[in-house]
Amino acid sequence: MRVLGIETSCDETGVAIYGDDGLLAHTLYSQVALHAEYGGVVPELASRDHVRKLAPLVRQALAEADLAPADLDGVAYTAGPGLAGALLVGAGFGRSLAWSLGVPALGVHHMEGHLLAPMLEADPPAFPFVALLVSGGHTQLVEVTGVGRYRLLGGSVDDAAGEAFDKTAKLLQLGYPGGPALAALAEQGDPTRFSFPRPMTDRPGLDFSFSGLKTFALTTLQTGVKGCDEAGLRRLKADIARAFEDAVVETLAIKCRRAVEHTGVSTLVLAGGVSANKRLRARIDDLMAERGGSACYPRPVFCTDNGAMIAYAGWQRLAAGQYESLAFDIKPRWDMQTLAAI
Ligand code: KG4
Ligand code: ZN
Repeated sequence: MRVLGIETSCDETGVAIYGDDGLLAHTLYSQVALHAEYGGVVPELASRDHVRKLAPLVRQALAEADLAPADLDGVAYTAGPGLAGALLVGAGFGRSLAWSLGVPALGVHHMEGHLLAPMLEADPPAFPFVALLVSGGHTQLVEVTGVGRYRLLGGSVDDAAGEAFDKTAKLLQLGYPGGPALAALAEQGDPTRFSFPRPMTDRPGLDFSFSGLKTFALTTLQTGVKGCDEAGLRRLKADIARAFEDAVVETLAIKCRRAVEHTGVSTLVLAGGVSANKRLRARIDDLMAERGGSACYPRPVFCTDNGAMIAYAGWQRLAAGQYESLAFDIKPRWDMQTLAAI
């Protein structure tokens, strides 16, 4: 079975084709340049750009896989969570294409896509495992016993980890998208100059709170900036970036250790945009190695939003006989625990 996957939930247009022997093609167009001048994603511009890019990307993916549209056996598109207008573009396109080809289609949960992305790698994780999903909109610890068998262990009570990276990067004037820029600046920072709190680690539980770290970064900047020359300001920002990154990474690692101890699993999966962070990967690798277990994460391009993860999740479900009626729906908010198991 060959499944076309379409991702349009936010600011990347991703298209891929997954077949029984693996990934056949993937194409991606990032809207970063379009939104950069506004300092964040402008939903209406995102929707319009998905409209412009989707058809050419589908054609490109088919050409890459050396397939014709009629060779497709199903279509999967992100149905939520995400920006309503952006989701409607992918859902409308995917549904219509499936109808015209006479093949089944189905809406995929974006976070399930992220969660299953490590399955695209050469050494995929085996069930059961705990997944740490860290993206721009979500921070979740999930116990995973199979495809569609998800138990939420904890989540963020305010900002998601990626959102905290982006907001802190903004106050350090690093532009958009902030996460990768902040991580790059942190490389030059002194890890001993500032110590940021590890929120919610002094009490039991697996929930997160990252909004206070951004405020901590702001007051550290406001205090440190007084009497600073240009070189001093550069150092100050780098040191804040490093202290912030260390605090997020350590907080995530503490909760991951707890989740792994609590569930007794030996594999931890890291997915979502923030899982591209090198320091986070290294810390989680160490944590799991200490416990005699292992950590799995997708290649960097499949950590952030992409079509391959949607094609894979859709292929799993369509191959199991699941599909949806033509009356399509999108779900800007959607609890992953309500998904059907396969
Ligand atoms: O999964 P994703 O592409 O989109 C959502 O589903 O939200 O995640 C995007 C998030 C952004 O907040 C971005 O700043 C963050 O992932 N991110 C990073 C890194 N690369 C992307 N955060 C920290 N370090 C990185 N290297
Ligand atoms: Zn995402």
